[in-house]
Amino acid sequence: MASSLSDNDSTTVELPMTKVLIPGSFDPLHLGHIDVVDQAVELFGDVVIGVLVNFEKPSGLFKPAERVQLARASLGDRRSVTVHAFGGLAVQAAAEVGADFIVKGLRTPNDFDIEQQMAHINHSVTAIRTVFLPCRSDLGFISSRFIREIAAHGEAIDHLVAAPVAAALADRFAGPSH
Ligand code: PNS
Repeated sequence: MASSLSDNDSTTVELPMTKVLIPGSFDPLHLGHIDVVDQAVELFGDVVIGVLVNFEKPSGLFKPAERVQLARASLGDRRSVTVHAFGGLAVQAAAEVGADFIVKGLRTPNDFDIEQQMAHINHSVTAIRTVFLPCRSDLGFISSRFIREIAAHGEAIDHLVAAPVAAALADRFAGPSH
């Protein structure tokens, strides 16, 4: 499938399909992430979600293999999207899958500050470019950290995540002592 744009004469212009890597912790994947994945599919065509280690938060709630499984289940039958775990750097994951660009979703100006630095450092290593996509405004408040905290205290998170993640969180925090 190629991406397409319409010009002013309503002629459809086919664009060559591009492969992008969306790296992140995805602990767990939430509706804000899914919005960015859908934007990337629309713009580029072929999307690889990379579950990577954020060295500032190495121990997570879900193991990498669980995050992959939950992301796959949450994304349903999006056929041009694949999900894989990677052990090293985002630039190494991008090279391994043959990604043309890295894509990152931005929620806030604070996100931009951090992501701009990471985009420059990644470009300095392998010359890969990063494309920023603004998260949908009504989903920009969602973060995996808040979801983990809310679920740990027994409040509903079904409006923030897809059903498989909601079920996994309910299971993880079931019982009086978790
Ligand atoms: O969802 P997050 O935690 O904001 O994602 C951050 C992540 C995992 C994309 C970032 O920490 C990352 O790229 N980790 C892999 C190691 C790496 O490439 N670090 C950046 C260059 S030092």
